[in-house]
Amino acid sequence: MTFTFPQDFTWGTATASYQVEGAIHEDGRTPSIWDTFCAKPGTIADGTSGERACDQYHRYMEDIDIMKRMGVGAYRFSVSWSRIIPEPNGKVNQAGVDYYLRLLDALREAGIKPACTVYHWDLPQYLEDQGGWPNRDTAKRYADYAQVLAERFGDRIDTWITLNEPWCAAYLGYGNGVHAPGVKDYAKSLEAVHHLNLAHGLGTQAIRSVLGDKARISVTLNPAVNIAETDAPEDIAAKHRADLMNNEVFYGPMLEGRYDPDILAVTADLTDWSFVKDGDLETIHQPLQVLGLNYYSTSHVRAAAPGNVNEGVPAPAQDIVEFLPPTGELTAMGWNQEPHGLTTLLTELSSRFRDLPLMVTENGSAWDDVVTEDAAAPGGKIVHDPQRVNYMNRHIRAVADAIEAGANVTGYYAWSLLDNFEWALGLSKRFGIVRVDYDTEERIWKDSALRYGEIVKANAI
Ligand code: NOJ
Repeated sequence: MTFTFPQDFTWGTATASYQVEGAIHEDGRTPSIWDTFCAKPGTIADGTSGERACDQYHRYMEDIDIMKRMGVGAYRFSVSWSRIIPEPNGKVNQAGVDYYLRLLDALREAGIKPACTVYHWDLPQYLEDQGGWPNRDTAKRYADYAQVLAERFGDRIDTWITLNEPWCAAYLGYGNGVHAPGVKDYAKSLEAVHHLNLAHGLGTQAIRSVLGDKARISVTLNPAVNIAETDAPEDIAAKHRADLMNNEVFYGPMLEGRYDPDILAVTADLTDWSFVKDGDLETIHQPLQVLGLNYYSTSHVRAAAPGNVNEGVPAPAQDIVEFLPPTGELTAMGWNQEPHGLTTLLTELSSRFRDLPLMVTENGSAWDDVVTEDAAAPGGKIVHDPQRVNYMNRHIRAVADAIEAGANVTGYYAWSLLDNFEWALGLSKRFGIVRVDYDTEERIWKDSALRYGEIVKANAI
């Protein structure tokens, strides 16, 4: 059965600054924690970095043209903080601002609505040198930065997204150290959680102080969809623990103005949470116009055997949780494909936060793609990626199912417009619906891009 999406449903594609821009030394940009991290041997699986990536800094016109041909109505991009404020003195770098103004002009010209992620993990290195996210002052510096973006970009931005996946920034950045800045200290990762929450609140206030009620503000979370292996109380308790540390640490403060007391209880051996100051929860709990969700796969959990500490489980205090190996056909990331998890996430959140519209700000899959010569294709080449097409079809169908079940979902952004720098896994994991040849920076369409164009134009699946 064909499902037609609501008339005003937003179809977009998404990227992030460090993953696509390149041009890391241009126009006054200074290093972010990712430049520093990538330079350390052994941090990135294939030894690559975002130094050149997709060179979108110089090729954004071509990328916008691709989106236009695909028919997408929105582009979610992020701003590189250290292009805008390159030095600790807080001075705004006009050349950095100008790049995004050019991008925004070109998007407007193309009729593509910009969704701007203020922070997608590339913290200026000078702020990390002052303690990074475990330092409360970083949240204040973030608010200053968000205010600059609101002043300079103003109402050209259709949707503001304060943070992308603070879970990763906190737990992978400061907990297991797999992401920049590579700190391994779970107590610090909880301080980072709180200061990211605080940054969200202060940043929302800052944007609103400039743009008033017309600003459409959001945050993008990546809630884990944890499924208990059985109904046994221990397995349900394991799921609850995973939900608490992955999801409730963000939903609670941002959407309800509280930390669930269980969070404080289960982390008591790590921290007393004295970094939460009076008034912080009110600051963090700001009215939002929409909530962004990134979804890729599900986690199946059960109670761990006593004493079995799960190395590599990023959230702290998860020694009672065991993650089961993923099953079925796995993507190149080793992730399972369970579209129903997306339906569950959307329907559960929509019934819990009834007045809050949702949007899927990322969804997609990585595969080991192969380029085929094809005279009829744009540029004479194409990637046939049936697995990505299948993943896309099934997940967009899952969004349709959620809407049919009553969820208020306003948009979907494919991750990603382009193959790009996949963080600790480098350039070799390809999520794009358009391929990037990293030797030539040539863009090569994949079947999934053609399929996405069909869905977008039909507004139906
Ligand atoms: C979520 C992150 O926001 C994005 O940067 C990343 O590339 C995708 N997940 C895929 O791992």
